Amino acid sequence: FAFTDANKAWAEGQMTKFPEGRQASAVIPLLWRAQEQEGWLTRPAIEYVAKFLGMEYIRVLEVATFYFMFQLQPVGSVAHIQVCGTLSCMICNAEDLISVCKDKIAPKPHQLSADGKFSWEEVECLGSCANAPMAQIGKDYYEDLTAEKLSDLIDRMAAGEVPVPGPQNGRFASEPL
Ligand code: FES
Repeated sequence: FAFTDANKAWAEGQMTKFPEGRQASAVIPLLWRAQEQEGWLTRPAIEYVAKFLGMEYIRVLEVATFYFMFQLQPVGSVAHIQVCGTLSCMICNAEDLISVCKDKIAPKPHQLSADGKFSWEEVECLGSCANAPMAQIGKDYYEDLTAEKLSDLIDRMAAGEVPVPGPQNGRFASEPL
């Protein structure tokens, strides 16, 4: 693994944002960029980021394994669906969303669908409880989901569409409480 020229220039720019000797602070953005480039974080990618920042491999691996935004195994080429399974979403039928993922993608989390296009996992609260149940796909939040809506989203993404995320309106009360 190696950053593309553009990503390498970007990563070097990130490192200049921190005081001399504190370049390790750029580890999260660099891991994120490596994941964007490869789709997931391979061991060579983590080793590359460690070398880039002058860090021990184990220190970078600790970061990569701590946050569920980092994928340490292959993900679907079209989408990796992260279904929130925490309290608000669970009482609003997140189980139905997980059933859709099991039926349409793969029986177990982190498995690839037969065509390699999708993968899924259950994650902890994504901070969008007012629009529960919800799922994160890539960088976007898809909220107020039902089994039918998620199934439709998967079909549309498989056909090359990029469905509009949101609505992200639950956190703004329309009337004073
Ligand atoms: Fe699902 Fe918070 S419980 S977003």
